[in-house]
Parts: sequence; structure tokens; C-alpha cells
Amino acid sequence: MEIFKDIDDLRASLKNETTIAFVPTMGNLHAGHLALVNRAKQLSDCVVVSIFVNRLQFLPHEDFEQYPRTVSDDCKSLSGFNVNRVFVPDEKILFPTPQEFLLALPPVADTLEGKFRPGFFQGVATIVLKLFNIIQPGVAIFGKKDYQQLYVIREMVRQLNIPVEIIACETIRTSDGLALSSRNRYLDAVQRKEASQLYQTLVQTKNEIASGNTDFRALQQHAEDRLRQRGWSVDYLSIHQRNTLLPAETLDTDLVILGAAWLGKTRLIDNLEI
Ligand code: PAF
Repeated sequence: MEIFKDIDDLRASLKNETTIAFVPTMGNLHAGHLALVNRAKQLSDCVVVSIFVNRLQFLPHEDFEQYPRTVSDDCKSLSGFNVNRVFVPDEKILFPTPQEFLLALPPVADTLEGKFRPGFFQGVATIVLKLFNIIQPGVAIFGKKDYQQLYVIREMVRQLNIPVEIIACETIRTSDGLALSSRNRYLDAVQRKEASQLYQTLVQTKNEIASGNTDFRALQQHAEDRLRQRGWSVDYLSIHQRNTLLPAETLDTDLVILGAAWLGKTRLIDNLEI
């Protein structure tokens, strides 16, 4: 496995590759990331994983400084997975000067996560576009855990005619249902036990819909109340159409329930397709 810090070296090493499969990450790799890497390996012999904690997608009060940085452990995990190339740029490499060109995003980026984390998707889309330009992959793999991110990236690729196929991977969960996330490490033991209730609430809501309840507003309210009664602070729990991420109206389109809520100082997100 080769580790690259520099754009020119990475590009030179990729020059003769036909199809590159790319997995962008912010590091602190867990089984969820490794599932993305596994999928990438099924798609191409040449897999590139990037590790970069992207300042552009954090609000000033968020956990950019605190975000776990575990590059040498991450590289060890990746070498066990036979990954060919890891791109670990410094900030100075990706932002030699302030990043003044930022993508303008469609209204969907101001909803759900975007409403509570303004500018988040602009930061994500801008860095992903830069990484696509540097690596020029044929395919890129994203997890469904970040459902709206996946949606925004797909729309970016479609509307900007970027020649990259976007592949989605299912969320990996612990045995009690908690979606794997680097931020789970912020939870103390009591919070960790409670944390799977976000997923359980999504499951309950899905079951209600499956049994014919289509009063989406009431279902959302009920789900939010359930979490609040358990001590969560809820940003949203909301039922949407999968193909537009607009609010659900009927059962005629495929739906997804998305949720974001706080346990103490830790914000967790999750979703469930119906
Ligand atoms: O999902 C993530 O880890 C990040 O948002 C990504 C796609 C690597 C961009 O920084």
C-alpha cells in the first residue's frame, strides 16, 4: 500500500489506471468505512481511499478540532484490506490558499441536515468535487448512513455531468441497531446504551407506516415525542420521498425516514428506507 500526501505524486501513480474506485473518508475508520472499501475492491483492482478532515463542512462551534484523527491506525486497517493507495493530504495541500470557490447548492441542501448545519453540504460537495478532480475515479462509494449527503453528491454528479458512477452501501449497525459512526466514541456508557433508541424509533415509525398509517405529520410528532421523553434533544425526525427528498405525501413513492438528535453533547443521525 502506498500513502500519498502530494497531489502530483498521486496523479502520477494513477496515470495508467483504467478504472479507479474511490472511497472518500475523514478517517477514524470503522467497519462501516471498511464495508465501503470492500465494495470498492469488488469494483476495481485500483482502490484509492482518502483521509481528510474537511474544515469546510464544520460550523465554527462544531467538533472540527475534536474530531478523532487516527491516521496511522487507519492506514494499518487499510493495509490489512489490500488497499493500493491512500491519499492523506495536509490542509496546505488541499487549501494552499483559502478556498474561495465554493459550490452553490440546490434548495434540498438547506433542508434536514442543511437546516441545522448551514453550509455543511456546500463544504462536503466542494471537497468531494476537488477530490474527484484530483483522483478522477470511475466509481465512488458512499454510505447510506449519510443519506442526504449521498443524495446531494448524486445530484452534483448528475447536474454537473461529472463522469463518476456513485455507488451506495448499506449502513452497518451494531447488534442493538446503532449505526456505526466516528462520533459514537463521544458517548459515555449510559448514552451508548440509549443511543440505539434512535434506530428503534425509526423502526417503530416504519412499522406504523407498513401497517397502513399514512398520517406522516402525526407519525413524525409521535416519534420526536418518544425520543424527547427519553431525554433526547431532537433536531428532526422526518419522512421523505427517496427520489427527491421532499416531504412524504403518499405511499405511492418510495420513502425514507431521516432523523437527527442529540444525546448530551453528541449529535447522532440515522435513517431507514421504507
Ligand atoms: O462522509 C464523510 O466522511 C465526509 O462527508 C466526506 C464525504 C469524506 C467529505 O469530507
